[in-house]
Amino acid sequence: MYKLKIISSTVRPGRKGPLVAQWIAEEAKKQGSFEVEVLDLGEIALPLMNEAVHPIMKQYEHDHTKQWSAKIEEADAFIFVTAEYDYSYPASLKNALEYLVHEWAYKPSGIVSYSAGPFAGVRAVISLKGDLIGFRNVALAEGVTIPLVNGLINEDGVFTPTDQLTASATQMLHQLVRWTKGMKAIKDDK
Ligand SMILES: Cc1cc2nc3c(=O)[nH]c(=O)nc-3n(C[C@H](O)[C@H](O)[C@H](O)COP(=O)(O)O)c2cc1C
Repeated sequence: MYKLKIISSTVRPGRKGPLVAQWIAEEAKKQGSFEVEVLDLGEIALPLMNEAVHPIMKQYEHDHTKQWSAKIEEADAFIFVTAEYDYSYPASLKNALEYLVHEWAYKPSGIVSYSAGPFAGVRAVISLKGDLIGFRNVALAEGVTIPLVNGLINEDGVFTPTDQLTASATQMLHQLVRWTKGMKAIKDDK
């Protein structure tokens, strides 16, 4: 089993991210190759990056950084669940990324994006993919893009996907397993 961390990126009260994250976590468990953990940045509540030493040195001063580092270090793969905020991904995710360097490297990521409107967060995906390159983290071509997310969430806060979204998730997870196997070989080949 590979360790998959699903990162729910938004932190505002009433955020929809964890509902989408819960759904993709269940899909990932059904896939069968992953031990799945959801990391909700709203609960983890990292302050704005406040380490004195560049994270490339891994000389972490604060407990919140040490705990975040340990969680990300143990991952073999990631799924970023992200909304689009002002044509990009949320600052909370940028902040969580920039706390660390090595922990993200030589691991693959799937991206699940969503928005209240029709564009499904695709501009957030483009920004995030560009930034992941710098961390030597490889974002998959396959992803899940969810438009009009509020219409898919019922009164109990359960996200119910369309068939097409489920098919996209299955495809992405299949590819994520392949890339996880491949990237592990690259990671171990020092
Ligand atoms: C600060 C902020 C900026 C937003 N910017 C965009 C945007 O650029 N494009 C878009 O399609 N939706 C945008 N939205 C609407 C979001 O798609 C929608 O509110 C979504 O539920 C946000 O994710 P969250 O509920 O997990 O916070 C924005 C929402 C917020 C709160």
